[in-house]
Amino acid sequence: MSQKILLTGDRPTGKLHLGHYVGTLKNRVKLQHDYKTYLIIADLHMLTTKNTKEDIDAVTQNACDMVLDYLAVGIDPAVSTPYLQSAIPEVCEINTLFQNLVTVPRLERLPSLKDMVRDSNKDEMPYGLLGYPVLQSADILCVKGNVVPVGKDNLAHVEITREIARRFNHLYGDFFPEPEALVGEVPTLVGTDGDAKMSKSLNNAIFLSDDTAAVKKKVMSMFTDPNRLTADTPGTVEGNPVFIYHDAFNTNKAEVEDLKTRYRAGKVGDVEVKEKLITAIEEVLNPMRETRAKYESQSGLLEEIILDGTATVREIVKQTVFDMRKQMGLAAITTRMRRRVEKRKKAKTG
Ligand code: TRP
Repeated sequence: MSQKILLTGDRPTGKLHLGHYVGTLKNRVKLQHDYKTYLIIADLHMLTTKNTKEDIDAVTQNACDMVLDYLAVGIDPAVSTPYLQSAIPEVCEINTLFQNLVTVPRLERLPSLKDMVRDSNKDEMPYGLLGYPVLQSADILCVKGNVVPVGKDNLAHVEITREIARRFNHLYGDFFPEPEALVGEVPTLVGTDGDAKMSKSLNNAIFLSDDTAAVKKKVMSMFTDPNRLTADTPGTVEGNPVFIYHDAFNTNKAEVEDLKTRYRAGKVGDVEVKEKLITAIEEVLNPMRETRAKYESQSGLLEEIILDGTATVREIVKQTVFDMRKQMGLAAITTRMRRRVEKRKKAKTG
């Protein structure tokens, strides 16, 4: 049996951070060996909220930074294929065909889109943003994806994809698989400031590409238990960002338990807890830095990986569009017309 297909990816808006790592990247590294893996650099999706000339100019660098982050965490370009969405115009054709398979109220109800309108400081929903999940469906189905590892905020988009696939199959005959979402069980990583979510725009992120000095600085200024003013005051571990990070990144579980016990008893200072956290995070980042350096030393290599991946995926998508047009009966329209023209020509000459 041929390998099942996995498709996932990100908008190229900047460097990836520890939240991405625990939330999805770690999982992708594991899954890439079980599935044929495609990683979309979703720059057309970026345009739904960020579409200035500057935003677009930044895609070249951001795409390379993002792919370098993928490779650094262990994405293997021999088995995973990163590609640039906007360089495959056939995806837009699929998007157009899909637009008739979903209703406006269905899309308007999605909280994820309302959140994006709010977060991008728009007072009204752009047409393209309303279509965000439809374009995402085109991404997933253009390679006939079977599994889609996503965060909770994207779950509803995969559900829309399943509905579109079903609707297409119902109207035109069996064609698309119904892809499954794979949602990680890990909770969203809090920011260094204790905010619900680590995010570049909130300025509370530790990036995978941060150097040791940056990691130290960020951890040392992390929020802890706000009610604990001195090292001998008993503190709270639950919901405390420093301990959430210890749980997420420190592989020395005995050390974490010891720190928690002493923290609760007022027998350890924030500095010791933070210094041990720095060591733990550095242990996670050090191997990534090594891999990163290897790729960085070969100028043009990331670009080559992206362009090769895009060429590979484009061929697949071209075939999908060709087959879709045939299945829908669109291809037959011009074929019939051509036949009639030929008949006419023959009648004239004959
Ligand atoms: N919506 C994803 C995000 O939040 C990016 C994306 C675009 C995507 N197309 C996709 C993810 C297809 C999974 C599958 O950035």
